Amino acid sequence: MNKQYLVGKVVVRMNTANPSLPKSDFANEAGIHTRVLKQFDDFEKLYGRDKDVMLFPYRYPVETINRVLNYGNYFPIDSLHIETTTRCNLKCPGCFRTGNEYDSKNRSMTMCDFERIVDSLPPVKNIGLQGIGESTMNRDLPAMVRYAKENTKAKLSIITNALAKPLEYYEELFEIGLDNIVISVDSLNQETSNRLRTGTNVDRLKDNIIFLADKYPKKISLNTVVSKINEKEIGDLFLELIETGIHKNFLSHQLQPLIDPPNYTNSEMSASDQRCFYESMKEQIRGYYKKIDYNIKLHFHFVRPNIPCIQAFGTSYFTVDSHLTPCCSIVDKNDYSFGNLSGGNFSNSYLSENALNFRKQILHGIYPQACKGCPSNQTENDG
Ligand SMILES: C[S@@+](CC[C@H](N)C(=O)[O-])C[C@H]1O[C@@H](n2cnc3c(N)ncnc32)[C@H](O)[C@@H]1O
Ligand code: SF4
Ligand code: SF4
Repeated sequence: MNKQYLVGKVVVRMNTANPSLPKSDFANEAGIHTRVLKQFDDFEKLYGRDKDVMLFPYRYPVETINRVLNYGNYFPIDSLHIETTTRCNLKCPGCFRTGNEYDSKNRSMTMCDFERIVDSLPPVKNIGLQGIGESTMNRDLPAMVRYAKENTKAKLSIITNALAKPLEYYEELFEIGLDNIVISVDSLNQETSNRLRTGTNVDRLKDNIIFLADKYPKKISLNTVVSKINEKEIGDLFLELIETGIHKNFLSHQLQPLIDPPNYTNSEMSASDQRCFYESMKEQIRGYYKKIDYNIKLHFHFVRPNIPCIQAFGTSYFTVDSHLTPCCSIVDKNDYSFGNLSGGNFSNSYLSENALNFRKQILHGIYPQACKGCPSNQTENDG
């Protein structure tokens, strides 16, 4: 039988019926359920449920929260990232890699470590084969895609600048079994791009986007990072893509704010700047882009009503050195490791004492030092 808790419009079902399912570590903490779900409810009242706009809390819909509360640390992982390399062909000033020297910079994961990670994984829905770096620069990436395809049921994707390799390389990745490619494009104006994505040739980038989206409809998405530099030019970027007609083939085009690189915390746009931008984009999406079949999504963090970040439950991140960390947002990943897969196994790391404490704290709204400054735990007032 399911016990139901009703909080506002939101119903949480505590599974008490199926003894084969592990009991949540949080199952007896009724206070958490009430608090978390009330926050979702308040959020929905304020902003509505909007399919076009994926505000960060809504990456985790209520059903996901229910699963976390029901299964706690045994929550099935939806997606994970494997940082296949930290090398790169560009020098984007906003990227953590560009302005920082750190031990794991300019390394590539070996095939052997990659296989060990994949062999240890529980079933996951999505695997992103990238981190801070350009994954196509790992010469083993095609072999990694093949191995993950043959040994998991996960959907496989990469995020790429689409400039490090010839087009045939990307075609080969699709043939081997890659499901999706997300291409980063902050601008198609050469001057703006020089400032944001240094080393990019915008004509080549545009040609590559058109070629790949034309050949692989609904397998290509775009990711645009919005900052003070390109904020006013986003409309021009859309227009340029719409003129080619290729926008209809994109799986989606996602916009997200820049995470400010000097301290790697808030967006350089203030909370109110972001709100204006978001409101104006939302209007345009509803009024215009929807009509022309352009699937634009806004991923913005700035209106969090204190909903706990549950990224640490539903995702995991393997660094280039095989450390398991909770998510891609932690900067000093090797310093915040739940375990190293070269010497252990996934379950031991995922359920290590460190990991359990980490998740418990977050669900109680207490953020570990490692999360300091991450936009996923800040409210509008913080920005
Ligand atoms: C770190 S990159 C790695 C993949 C690949 N090298 C690329 O640029 O597409 C992944 C995504 O993070 C974005 N990104 C980089 N620095 C960022 C920042 N400071 N704030 C928000 N997004 C950022 C990039 O634009 C890219 O879309
Ligand atoms: S291409 Fe990607 S990894 Fe390379 S510097 Fe730019 S954002 Fe960073
Ligand atoms: S750094 Fe912490 S708050 Fe940010 S996404 Fe990761 S787990 Fe969540």
